[in-house]
Amino acid sequence: MRKIIATSALPYANGSIHLGHLVEYLQTDIWVRSQKMAGNECLYICADDAHGTPIMLKAQELKISPEELINKVYKEHRKDFKDFYIEFDNYHSTHSDENREYSSKIYAELEKKGDIVSKKINQFYDEEADMFLPDRYIKGECPKCGAKDQYGDSCEECGATYASTDIINPVSIISNTKPVTKETEHYFFQLNKYQDFLKKWISSETIQPEIKNKLKEWLDDGLADWDITRDKPYFGFNIPGHDDKFFYVWLDAPVGYIASFKNYCSGNNKDFDEYWQEDSKCELYHFIGKDIAYFHVLFWPAMLQGSGFRKPTAVYCHGFLTVDGEKMSKSRGTFFNARTYLNHLEPEYLRYYFASRLTNKIEDIDLNLDDFQSRVNSDLVGKIINIGSRCARFINKDFDNSLANELQNESLIKKCLSRKSEITDNYENRNFSSNIRIIASMADEINKYLDEEKPWVKIKNDDERLLVQKICTDGLNLFKILITYLKPVLPEIAAKVEQILKSKPLDWANIEDILLSRDINEFKPLIMRIDSKAIEAMKQESIGED
Ligand code: MSP
Ligand code: ZN
Repeated sequence: MRKIIATSALPYANGSIHLGHLVEYLQTDIWVRSQKMAGNECLYICADDAHGTPIMLKAQELKISPEELINKVYKEHRKDFKDFYIEFDNYHSTHSDENREYSSKIYAELEKKGDIVSKKINQFYDEEADMFLPDRYIKGECPKCGAKDQYGDSCEECGATYASTDIINPVSIISNTKPVTKETEHYFFQLNKYQDFLKKWISSETIQPEIKNKLKEWLDDGLADWDITRDKPYFGFNIPGHDDKFFYVWLDAPVGYIASFKNYCSGNNKDFDEYWQEDSKCELYHFIGKDIAYFHVLFWPAMLQGSGFRKPTAVYCHGFLTVDGEKMSKSRGTFFNARTYLNHLEPEYLRYYFASRLTNKIEDIDLNLDDFQSRVNSDLVGKIINIGSRCARFINKDFDNSLANELQNESLIKKCLSRKSEITDNYENRNFSSNIRIIASMADEINKYLDEEKPWVKIKNDDERLLVQKICTDGLNLFKILITYLKPVLPEIAAKVEQILKSKPLDWANIEDILLSRDINEFKPLIMRIDSKAIEAMKQESIGED
């Protein structure tokens, strides 16, 4: 049995979960479920990322404390995830005792090693709001091309990146006043000390080729010292010994993976060190989006190395979600919050559709709403689920719920079972789209067999009645195999099928079990087709959402 920790990136606690986020949480959830079906111990660990300036300002705007804000968002996030059948083994918060403990511990270790240096820097300061301004809170003209209304770190017009103090005519977006420059002392993590370690790390660990190339570029450019300090006011953890300085949110955010796991250990009798000590034999996988690769393949492994913890086994990076080929947009009504989707549509439609689009590449994935509807309606409902309903109908009505005592078409069953290792490998390698293709083509073959046998004709002929029972027993056994293959993607449908077939919880080991000479329960509809009106209503509701 493998011992695995899988994580998704920790969502910020200042906003709602949207369908873009769900690409990642569903990808991880499907992967974790397939590991559990293999009998591995696979713990899905996550948390809210509760610190930083945007959270502090959002709380101010709502006239509540940051703690109130993050508690409210925590509940909302948890409910959204649960309703999409995303099943964490532990979901914690970075604003927690465990996280304070481990962030401070890691920082102290780095300091002891001499990896932390202090420097005096000049930063923009908003005198009206009484605070230093992060780059994203300054707007002005690009120092390179002169474009107006650009953020303090980069220009969207010409792509230039620059220091915020170089921007022309800077304005604070918090108070709309002109910021002054002010000196402050910050602590930096000397990343360049880990240059050799990181070079070795990327060659030995499984990092996707695209990221590997990026990482090589970054390493070749030389690694700058990383500013891990923020001045007060800030919502975060104090740097030990400095009342007016805080850890930058990206220092304590990844430590949240450790903290959430530590929190899990206390209630579940796990040995923390077995998973996190330097030479741990357990596996650790981080699922992340492409925008945060820098933090996960540079800063994070260096921090772990410097403080004597194990490093990730792999970092799995995915692309971004587009809707109908374009960036999600509030004005077009294509920015969908998880809750808005759930108000109109079943979670398993989206699980199925995302699975049909997800690969192990970093390419963006598109939610094309017409394609979404037709894939779900024709493939999932029309082909796959249909096998169960058409066969169960005869067994329920004409054979008093009992399955035949032998199969008619063993070879088709063998054929479907023969794809098992390919399918489990595809889950392991995050090639979910290949699995959906394989399963849909199996469903075609099974439907073809049933169409050719015409049980609805044979049932009228007394000589052929028993044949119908066998054909439908084939059909239901084939259905069980397909639903087992799809169980990581469609956990709720799989649970209903287990109930109908009175089977054990379906997994990779019992997929070969054939159900004969036994009763089933009455078939109940598993999922309906998507009505175009539901998609329209979701679009309407989402206009202007954020
Ligand atoms: N808080 C940080 C992560 C800290 S991990 C130690 C963060 N939060 S986030 O809420 O902005 O994003 C959470 C995850 O969702 C990230 O991996 C991000 O890439 C992913 N996505 C956010 N928007 C997305 C899309 N539109 N499409 C696909 N993934 C997206 O980053
Ligand atoms: Zn520019």
